[in-house]
Amino acid sequence: MPDKLIEGEVCWRSPSNIAFVKYWGKYGTQLPKNASLSMTLSESYTITSIDFKSQQKNPKREFYFNGEFNEAFSARIWKYIASLCGIFPFLEEMDLIIRSKNSFPHSAGIASSASAMSALALCLTDIERLVYGTLIKDDAFYKKASYIARLGSGSAARSVYGGYSIWGQAKSAHVKSENKFAIDFNSEIHPKFQQLQDAILIVDEGQKKVSSSVGHSLMNNHPYADDRLAQANKHMEELALALKEGNTAAFIKIVETEALSLHALMMSSDPWFILMKPQSLEIINKVQEFREKTGKFICFTLDAGPNVHLIYSKDDEVEINKFIEKELKQFCSKRHVIFDEIGEGPLKIK
Ligand code: DP6
Repeated sequence: MPDKLIEGEVCWRSPSNIAFVKYWGKYGTQLPKNASLSMTLSESYTITSIDFKSQQKNPKREFYFNGEFNEAFSARIWKYIASLCGIFPFLEEMDLIIRSKNSFPHSAGIASSASAMSALALCLTDIERLVYGTLIKDDAFYKKASYIARLGSGSAARSVYGGYSIWGQAKSAHVKSENKFAIDFNSEIHPKFQQLQDAILIVDEGQKKVSSSVGHSLMNNHPYADDRLAQANKHMEELALALKEGNTAAFIKIVETEALSLHALMMSSDPWFILMKPQSLEIINKVQEFREKTGKFICFTLDAGPNVHLIYSKDDEVEINKFIEKELKQFCSKRHVIFDEIGEGPLKIK
């Protein structure tokens, strides 16, 4: 730690992301069993700030979520920060006052760990940059932030980049990616995929029924684990190509198969979980019918929960909004839909 007293504030806004090839199953220290590919969102984000002050004997630790003390979140945050002491030893002697808030209601059932952990990781990495003058090049900064975010939550590793990103070593000649951090995957994206929309249909606003960690652990000894790995590797190869060539038919097939495979894996775990609701299936059927009738580029994906993400092109926004209004909102809790879209990634707030 430099001799002089250092104090300051860092603040980052970081978005959530939606995976098209799903991360499901991990090993070691937060390493993924398969590579995943996601699109970073724009409107669903977390803003986190840290006030820090060095050279403190009994450093202060305060965490506020939406301006209030939150015991459950607080315990997770301090445990995570303690686990980073080997990487950021200077944190041990710093007052840290962390404030965090989400752009979406906590009850919306959106997975918030990707935005929350990436925002926090960006702040911590930024403190290193300020204190030591390291990580000056953006490449090095985001790589480290992604590494740190991954240790908090796997999917958060992908949120440090805008557009598309990949986390996990892909078994593909087209993709050179890593297990320890995500990479930006925007250099070969066809214009058809550069303005995608994501309407999140909130079927259930409740908390997650199964925590991600429990979910991932069910892939250890899963009867279909080897086949899942082979499927994810194949999907990664095919999706990278579809994104490059503008092949929407291949995109739809892979994205929907990934979503349903994720749920099929949960249904065939021991113990099993059914996380979709009847309304999720109603929406999926309606989307399939609408696509067959209109020939539009639209598809669905799911996270480990009942909410349905509708992915479509900005060009069809008006028509698809009408479809959502007339035929899909009836299946949502309080007719709640969050309209999001592909985003540019995190933003440092001055
Ligand atoms: C289904 O990133 O939430 O959303 O690493 O335990 O925090 P942890 O898991 P998490 O898992 C996300 C799983 C998923 C698929 C995905 O985002 O790739």
